[in-house]
Amino acid sequence: MDGPNETVRKPATSARMYDFYLGGAHNFAADRRAALKVIEQYPTVPAVARTNRAFLGRAVRFLADAGVRQFLDIGSGIPTSGNVHEIAQRSVPEARVVYVDIDPVAVAESREILHGNDLATAIHGDLRDPKAILDDPGVHGMLDLTRPVAVVLAAVLHFVPDDTQAHGVVDELLTALPAGSHLVISHGAAETFLLGDERTAAARSVYTRQTSTAGKPRTREEVSRFFGARCELVEPGVSWAPDWRPAADDPTDFENDTRRSGMWAAVGRLL
Ligand SMILES: C[S@@+](CC[C@H](N)C(=O)[O-])C[C@H]1O[C@@H](n2cnc3c(N)ncnc32)[C@H](O)[C@@H]1O
Repeated sequence: MDGPNETVRKPATSARMYDFYLGGAHNFAADRRAALKVIEQYPTVPAVARTNRAFLGRAVRFLADAGVRQFLDIGSGIPTSGNVHEIAQRSVPEARVVYVDIDPVAVAESREILHGNDLATAIHGDLRDPKAILDDPGVHGMLDLTRPVAVVLAAVLHFVPDDTQAHGVVDELLTALPAGSHLVISHGAAETFLLGDERTAAARSVYTRQTSTAGKPRTREEVSRFFGARCELVEPGVSWAPDWRPAADDPTDFENDTRRSGMWAAVGRLL
């Protein structure tokens, strides 16, 4: 993605670092440097990203097959293979998708890919301001919020480190949606990325200093609380990402020890 004007001063973003982990081409030198510093601490991070992406694909396929017609994917990232609209519209051609990301590059790339697709769009938005997302004309123009929607928060809630704020955001989103909606979450695991550990501190400081986005892994119990009493968890509940309804074409990175995937994953149905 580097052009002749690529500037080393461009700050890294978590979206483009994730693109680098996944082997994508939509990243700059600063993103690669920051990503490599994280990989130095945790060499499994690219495999964690692949595993997360595979969970996301399975969750969307499951929901589309279950009849879900509307998806609101917040923290959607830079489009890569197995995008939500591709998977959903393969099962349900009339499925509608809105992508939301804080990174303007991710939004621009998404819009480019979606050109000509009348049933999917991308908007710029901040998960920490759910009201602005829900009020955005791009959301209203595409989704009917009086009918069930699947809200996808894949590998993004750990970028809202304040627990009260993170729970407030999820509550506000769920409050705006009717029963029968779904919540999809994958989340960095505090059981893997130990908060007291030097390596985790070093990796977190890369995100805080290079992207100004602090990251915070959470425990299984903390992730379960996002679903609270308002959602019924789809089987198998909050699981290590590779264990959530595995499929034949899954990456094999953590097949011998799924705990090393470092990602909690779950889907809940709003009661
Ligand atoms: C690790 S990537 C995950 C991408 C995609 N959801 C997936 O699971 O494959 C995290 C994404 O969240 C976005 N992000 C981080 N903080 C955000 C916020 N407050 N609001 C919206 N997006 C955010 C980043 O820009 C990045 O694209």
